[in-house]
Amino acid sequence: MYTPQAGIFALGTSSHAYLEFDLLDAKKYKEFASTISAIHEPRTTTGGVNFVIGFRPELWRNILPEDAPQDVDGFNKQIQGIEGFVMPATQHDALVWLSGSAYDVIFDMARSVVHDLAGQASLGEETSSWPYRHDRDLTGFVDGSENPTLLDAPIDALLPEGVPGAAGSVLLLQKWKHKTAEWEALPVDRQEHIMGRTKLDSIELENKPDDSHVARTDQDEYGNIFRRNMPYGNVDNHGTVFVGFSAEQKRLSGMLDSMAGLVNGTRDALTRFTEPLTGSYYFVPSVESLRRLR
Ligand code: HEM
Repeated sequence: MYTPQAGIFALGTSSHAYLEFDLLDAKKYKEFASTISAIHEPRTTTGGVNFVIGFRPELWRNILPEDAPQDVDGFNKQIQGIEGFVMPATQHDALVWLSGSAYDVIFDMARSVVHDLAGQASLGEETSSWPYRHDRDLTGFVDGSENPTLLDAPIDALLPEGVPGAAGSVLLLQKWKHKTAEWEALPVDRQEHIMGRTKLDSIELENKPDDSHVARTDQDEYGNIFRRNMPYGNVDNHGTVFVGFSAEQKRLSGMLDSMAGLVNGTRDALTRFTEPLTGSYYFVPSVESLRRLR
């Protein structure tokens, strides 16, 4: 029986940091894996920090081939959608996602992680995030309504027992900048048609348009995923960190293709008001796999 990294399911935290690292010397991946797996949270009972550690899928296959799924790849090529829409590929070698109850502990831990990895890896991308009005993203809509409950989420997010990489998960991390002025210039009913749900109470529209976001990412079509999206940014420059876990990469990649208009020639209307700035896939191994690296 394998155990998933607990941070995947640690809901309700108010401060987050996503640290994406690049190896300085590609040959030294074993030393790097050993250092990153030795990172541990503060050991007091009250001041906890959750960690989720992920690796570029191809790198993970080198580190521990017997615990690696074969059919998972990095975000190695940009997605060229219709009408000139592009999702960039900004793959890094590893991710450490920290979450906790206050930003001071996250800040201190993030500094300590970067310090521990210095000499082996450089920090390629750092984003911090925080919840907005309880459960809304910065479009003002409730985000996560169609997420599975915590009882069902492991089935959707984790590779099953008996396969290489069991209790691991495929994570898509994508930073989306919002075009807030253009979005907020729309009347609410237009925003609702773009999202496919009502704004106030997140009820799915009966006749949602084919280009609405929830029609383009319909889980009945692509399979269920577990999302941990969070707002990021400042007054001038902000958006959504999309954090999606899945037992199968094709659910996530299918949704991205669909949003980009590559499935049926219809592009997700939300992509006209948001712009993807980054895109990486990480394999998030089980706790047992991580322990083997130490
Ligand atoms: C700017 C970026 C994004 C924003 C602001 C956003 C926001 C939302 C909102 C408000 C909903 C409706 C409520 C809910 O069920 O959560 C939703 C649904 C959903 N989104 Fe996104 N999303 C973004 C990007 C993405 C991406 C990149 C994916 C997939 C790779 C995705 C997958 C989904 C899925 C699977 C659903 C539920 C669909 C269903 O009803 O089955 N979203 N999103």
